[in-house]
Amino acid sequence: MKAIVLCGGKGSRLQPITYTIPKQLIPIGNKPLIVYTIELLLSSGMNEIGIVVNENNEGIFKKVLKQYFIEEFQYIVQQNPRGIAHGLLHAEEFIDDEKFLMVLGDNSFEFDLKAYVENFITGKDNCKILLKEVENPEKFGVAYIGDNRIIDLEEKPKIAYSNLAITGLYVFDKNIFKACREINPSNRGEYEITDAIRWLLQNKYAVGYEILKDRWKDIGTPIDLVEENMHRLSSIDENIKGEIVNSQVMGKLVLEEGGAIYNSIIRGPIIVGKNTIIKHSYIGPYTSIGKGVKVEKSNVENSILLDNCVVAGVQNTIDNSIIGENSMITNQKGLKKTNRLVVNRGSKVYLSNS
Ligand code: DAU
Repeated sequence: MKAIVLCGGKGSRLQPITYTIPKQLIPIGNKPLIVYTIELLLSSGMNEIGIVVNENNEGIFKKVLKQYFIEEFQYIVQQNPRGIAHGLLHAEEFIDDEKFLMVLGDNSFEFDLKAYVENFITGKDNCKILLKEVENPEKFGVAYIGDNRIIDLEEKPKIAYSNLAITGLYVFDKNIFKACREINPSNRGEYEITDAIRWLLQNKYAVGYEILKDRWKDIGTPIDLVEENMHRLSSIDENIKGEIVNSQVMGKLVLEEGGAIYNSIIRGPIIVGKNTIIKHSYIGPYTSIGKGVKVEKSNVENSILLDNCVVAGVQNTIDNSIIGENSMITNQKGLKKTNRLVVNRGSKVYLSNS
């Protein structure tokens, strides 16, 4: 069975990080978010994978995914992204006539995908959606169920009369392409996949569902990234290839080659990338630090630091934060009760009053 992973769109809720890196490539536990999804697809027997990207991102996806996989993927460019259903239509030629799977590149799943897919292949449904009970259904597509079947679907309703969110993993047969061509743009101006599935429902196609008991997360905001990072780090295995000098290490630590920790307190789970140097600092649980980073005389926890950034002299703990590539956060002599900032469009700086 073929699979497509949708990675077009703009990722505007994650700006400014997404100015330099597409959201699906943001590292979680020092590994791009989408890599976890592709690993799940491959281990569930799907090795013909198409990746829908927007016109500026094909190169970066190719370059990054080559570092993780020997498999070749098909890259499908969606120009001027106008919604998930619009992105899916671009993959029609790649899919041909077969039943297939579509997964959103900013979603994270852990469940028995192989069984789910086999069930669909042998069954009679034209489409099957995966639902999950959530506390905030208004943020998602929502499904209304009655008599064990789907009665209706609604994309991000103002008030949701069901707590069943539509997760970003769908299995379809070729009729979905017809549906995608029939629908009109929504109020937010997008061709919604939820509307295309609703079209199938209204035109008497069989739309099945399953309610997921295992883990699913949609990663849309910075705090989602921090939480996903926390989750992934909770299952890392200790692996120390770098140098630790005069430091106290508790909990699991991954320290890549060339990484070094001097005179510091480390409380895992933590991952530290190649050639990163940590000195006279406290690094607390659930922190992922990329390559070539410098942390000195600072306190950091529960955060993601991307490659080549510098954190120096920051005593008020950096917590729940994402620090972009090549950024610098430091104290400066002479500044008294004032802050000095050089930030650009979309940056978010949250200062403590103490
Ligand atoms: O995460 C589940 C939700 O995903 C569902 O509950 C909703 O029904 C569904 O519409 C979708 O909602 P989002 O607003 O979260 O979708 P988002 O715009 O974040 O895009 C999801 C993925 O699809 C992301 O990896 C980017 C990609 N995409 C998005 C658009 C708009 C494309 O490839 N092309 C596009 O044109």
